[in-house]
Amino acid sequence: MTVRSDGPLMRNYGQSMRGSRIAVAIAIGILLGCVCAFLFTHGFFGSDFSIQGHRAGIDTLKVDSSPCESSERINMLKSAFLSVSQKNSKLKKQVSELTEKLRFAEQAKDHAEKQFEVLGEKHKAGPFGTVKGLRTNPTVAPDESVNPRLAKILEKVAVQRELIVALANSNVKDMLEVWFTNIKRVGLPNYLVVALDDEIAHFCNSKDVPVYKRDPDEGIDSVAKTGGNHAVSGLKFRILREFLQLGYSVLLSDVDIVYLQNPFNHLYRDSDVESMTDGHDNMTAYGYDDVLDEPAMGWARYEHTMRIWVYNSGFFYIRPTIPSIELLDRVADRLSREKAWDQAVFNEELSFPSHPGYDGLHASRRTMDFYLFMNSKVLFKTLRKDSELSKFKPVIIHVNYHLDKLPRMKAVVDFYVNGKQDALNPFPDGSDWLPLTPQDTSVVS
Ligand SMILES: *[C@@H]1O[C@H](CO)[C@@H](O)[C@H](O)[C@H]1NC(C)=O
Repeated sequence: MTVRSDGPLMRNYGQSMRGSRIAVAIAIGILLGCVCAFLFTHGFFGSDFSIQGHRAGIDTLKVDSSPCESSERINMLKSAFLSVSQKNSKLKKQVSELTEKLRFAEQAKDHAEKQFEVLGEKHKAGPFGTVKGLRTNPTVAPDESVNPRLAKILEKVAVQRELIVALANSNVKDMLEVWFTNIKRVGLPNYLVVALDDEIAHFCNSKDVPVYKRDPDEGIDSVAKTGGNHAVSGLKFRILREFLQLGYSVLLSDVDIVYLQNPFNHLYRDSDVESMTDGHDNMTAYGYDDVLDEPAMGWARYEHTMRIWVYNSGFFYIRPTIPSIELLDRVADRLSREKAWDQAVFNEELSFPSHPGYDGLHASRRTMDFYLFMNSKVLFKTLRKDSELSKFKPVIIHVNYHLDKLPRMKAVVDFYVNGKQDALNPFPDGSDWLPLTPQDTSVVS
C-alpha cells in the first residue's frame, strides 16, 4: 500500500510531542516544589529519614574522621537520599496517575455512551470458536430533511434501498454512454447519474437515464463548475453523504466501467465498505506478510509487514452507517485541506489504526473478488492470455489501469457481449506513460 507520511498526522504528532514535553517540564517543576515543601514542613525534625543521618552526611563532607566512622556516615547519607528519592518518585507517580485517571474518565464516558448505543445490553462471551465481533453495523435512521428532492428521486430509482451512483460532467460523456448502455443491457433499474453540468443532465434525459442535477445554489456545488479535479473528487464524498443520510446503500461507480452482470447479486453487504481492489492476485488483493530481510540484525533479520493493494475508490459499496459517514467526512475534509489523491486518502483513512495523536476510523471492510470485480490490469495482463480464465465472465470490468479508456471499454464489450474473440488483442498490457498527475484522472478512473 502506498503510504504518504506528510499531512496533518505528522503535524499533530509533532504538536503532541511538544505538548508532552511541556507537560513533563511542568511536572518536574511541581515535583521540585513538592520536595522543597516536604523538606521545609518537616523541618529537620523527625520524618522518614534521619536528621542525624542528614547532618552526619554533611559533617562527613567537612570532617574526615576515621575510615570506619565515615563509611557508616556515608551509608546513612545514602539511605537518606534513597528515602528522599523514593518520596520523589512516589509523588511523580501520583501526578501521572491522576493525569491518566482524568484522561480515562473522559474517554470512558464517551466510550460507554457509544457502546451502549451499539450493543444495548451486555452479553457473556460464548464458548471457544463461537464468538464473532460486530462487523455489520446498524444503519442510520433515514433523514429526509437533508435533501427532500433527492429523497423523492431515490424512492423511485432505488431497489431495496440500494442503487448505483456515478458522477459525471461533459468531459466523460462518451464513456458515460458506454456505461449506461451496458447497465441497461444487464437489466438494472436502480442506477443514477449525478450530473455535474447541464449538458450531462440533458444528455441523460434524452437517453432515458435516471439523472439528478444538483441545485446550483447548494453551497458545495459551486466547486463542481469552478473547482479543479481536486475539489470535484472531494465533492463526490460530500454528495455521497446525503445518499447515506437518506438511508440508502450506494454502489459508487466511476464511468470507465463496463457492467456484464448484476453486481447486486454478488455483494455480501456485511461491512461498512465493500470495495474492489487494485490488486491482481490472491496476495496483493487479499493481503500477505511481506518480509524484509536485514541480515545485519542476525537472529532477528526477518521483519514482517502486513501488505495489501489499495482499494479502488472508484468502485465500492457503502452501507448507511455511522462509520461509513465518518469515512466520507474524513476523506472530504482532508481533500479540502490537503493536496492529495482521493484514493490515497480513502485508503489511509480506512487502514491506519489509532496511535498516539491519532484516532483511527475502524470501519469494517471487505475486499471484493478480484475476478468478479475486475480491474483492467488483471484483464489485459493475465486473463486474456489464459485460455481457461478467459472463458470466465466477470461482473464488471473497470478500465482503471489504462489511459485509452474508451477504446478499451468498447473492446471489452466486443469481447464479452459481441463474442469477438480477438477484440482485446490490439492493446498492449499497459498504457504508455503520459505526464498526467493522479488528480487529472481521479474523476474518471
Ligand atoms: C486464490 O484464493 C481462492 C479462494 O479465495 C482459491 O480458491 C484459489 O485457489 C487461490 N488461488 C491461488 C493461485 O492460490
